[in-house]
Amino acid sequence: MTTQIDAPSTLPPLPPLRIGEYTIPVPILQGGMGVRVSAHRLAAAVANEGGVGIIAAVALSLASRYYEKGKDYYRANVKALIEELETARALSPNGIIGVNCMVAIRDFEAMVRTSVENGAQMIVSGAGLPLRLPEFATSNPKTALVPIISSLRAAKLLAKRWHKLYKRLPDAMVFEDPNRAGGHLGVKTASQLFAKEYDTDTVVPELAEWSRSEYADEIPIITAGGVWDRHDIDHALALGAKGVQMASRFICTHECDAHDHFKQAFIDAKEGDVVIVDSPAGLPGRALKTSFTNTLLRGGEVATHCIATCLEACRCREEKETFCIALALHRAQQGDMENGLVFTGSNATRHTGIVSVKEIFQELLHGIPVRPMPIPG
Ligand SMILES: Cc1cc2nc3c(=O)[nH]c(=O)nc-3n(C[C@H](O)[C@H](O)[C@H](O)COP(=O)(O)O)c2cc1C
Repeated sequence: MTTQIDAPSTLPPLPPLRIGEYTIPVPILQGGMGVRVSAHRLAAAVANEGGVGIIAAVALSLASRYYEKGKDYYRANVKALIEELETARALSPNGIIGVNCMVAIRDFEAMVRTSVENGAQMIVSGAGLPLRLPEFATSNPKTALVPIISSLRAAKLLAKRWHKLYKRLPDAMVFEDPNRAGGHLGVKTASQLFAKEYDTDTVVPELAEWSRSEYADEIPIITAGGVWDRHDIDHALALGAKGVQMASRFICTHECDAHDHFKQAFIDAKEGDVVIVDSPAGLPGRALKTSFTNTLLRGGEVATHCIATCLEACRCREEKETFCIALALHRAQQGDMENGLVFTGSNATRHTGIVSVKEIFQELLHGIPVRPMPIPG
């Protein structure tokens, strides 16, 4: 399951990461990327290298045989999620596979229940505070529950609440740095971005000290946002994190579940091509500059008809503002760069070609440089 060493390692080994029942050989979680950017192929590939592979649950059915326009979108999501979990498991029988379930989606509870009942070993949950997550995960107490938070205050509140109501603690917590992460960001407004109080270097040591002093390190802290190379991982561990979550780094891989045009957009991205958009979920989001964001940011017309009722609270559905996020993300995943929204972390422009997940792990673990290739065809 762990990476084979093809050449002598030039780097010291990384410590394994314990989350609940699981010992993860390589302390790397692959960040959930919706819509269907991280599905069974990417998740299994990461799990096979000894990290945690994460399937993003949001709107999974849209590119599946289960979705029919106007029919039961939520039922189709359940079927698509079961299929993704089964396929990932078949590709990685011994790896650790989890599911990212966002609190902000309408079928959050169904996605968590389906994941837990169908063998997900971990639920990673953000885009809102997952206050009721343990309630939906009782069918398998071994499934690790990992909330995503963006401050010490949120971490304290959540741990207290879970302990009081459910007599359980989070098995780990992911801190997501809104200054660097991709997708929805854990601050209310874009003006709060880049504040030092939300920065990795400020918050991770606070969280690590809190976990050590209050919970004897039983809640390992994992940091996310802008982690790209071994230097970033070593820095995160030095700050007190026990592991990292990486998403954008895995986009330009053979195994990433998005269309080649989606990956090519990253290879072509130039300095200044990362923008912040207002999402219908009421949060800022970090995205790659595309025709879609150009139109959106200059106040032009983008698709606003709701195709899936995916969000619990949605400015597009309720106020006819912003855009249909399920449609925009789905279009991008399908390769429609004109009309699609491409989420990205701050490192978007570092991609120079396509690599395999194995190569990335060889680089991170053993210092063997990746050899990015042009996308064939
Ligand atoms: C294309 C893309 C889609 C994402 N979708 C989700 C998602 O569905 N749910 C979620 O919790 N986070 C999502 N994220 C955030 C990542 O899981 C991750 O925490 C973050 O991007 C880490 O920063 P990095 O991309 O710099 O590594 C997404 C990020 C990207 C780049």
